Amino acid sequence: MSNVTIKTLKEVEALRVASQMAAETLLCVGEMIRAGLTTDDLNTFVHEDTLKRGGIPAPLNYHGFPKSVCTSVNEVVCHGIPGSRVLEPGDIVNVDVTTIYNGFFGDTSATFYIGTPSPEARHVTEVSRRSLELGIAQVREGARLGDIGAAIQEFAEGEGCSVVRAFVGHGIGRKFHEPPQVSHVGKRNDGMRLKAGMCFTIEPMINIGGPDVEVLADKWTAITADRSLSAQFEHALVVTRSGCEVLTRRTRRLAHSELFPSPFSLAAS
Ligand code: MF3
Ligand code: CO
Ligand code: CO
Repeated sequence: MSNVTIKTLKEVEALRVASQMAAETLLCVGEMIRAGLTTDDLNTFVHEDTLKRGGIPAPLNYHGFPKSVCTSVNEVVCHGIPGSRVLEPGDIVNVDVTTIYNGFFGDTSATFYIGTPSPEARHVTEVSRRSLELGIAQVREGARLGDIGAAIQEFAEGEGCSVVRAFVGHGIGRKFHEPPQVSHVGKRNDGMRLKAGMCFTIEPMINIGGPDVEVLADKWTAITADRSLSAQFEHALVVTRSGCEVLTRRTRRLAHSELFPSPFSLAAS
């Protein structure tokens, strides 16, 4: 029994439009982000940019979330609440943009470098970026959810990092979060079989230390239990017979994130 919906072509087109709006806003974040800004400045920018495009920022008031974007700095794993924290040289910050347009949700995030990263910050960020690519590469009709988690877990752990268990990717559509839950750890040939027309996110949170998280008294901010660095990238996609379409794919290079030739991609070797 599965309550995972198969989207119609019209629904996929609506998701594509909302996803591209979120992707464009994230690209624009890359062009404005810099040391000296507060995370609240990022919130103001994302809020205004989303409205300017005719969208609605999904995080605002979602189950009581007080801001329009999640900003997760250094040891913050996810769901960081924008505020007075000033971005400093050496920080890494995930900005997670979700846009509602015409009733459909577009959800995508990236980790940005503020100034020059430490070797550890660069490593966890590049492992996280590559983990998402490897997870996406598993997706096609007939593959299983466990193939995605296994690809991510094998790579990230092989690079000396750990994979967060407490938060998962999710189906997306007219709801922000719907079935299936997409774990970023798993076993090959295990779990639900993918079908063309399923739409979901993959959003691995990768830690340089251990995988455990704590949620702060604000009930949202998740940090690494050992206070080690954490990085995340997120895309939304639709499963096809031969692979997938990344609905939130970017149309240009992401500034302040795609700084280096990837140490992991075959294309760079
Ligand atoms: N964008 C997050 C995700 O990828 C969810 C944020 S929920 C919020 O699923 F309320 F914190 F915005
Ligand atoms: Co998501
Ligand atoms: Co998100």
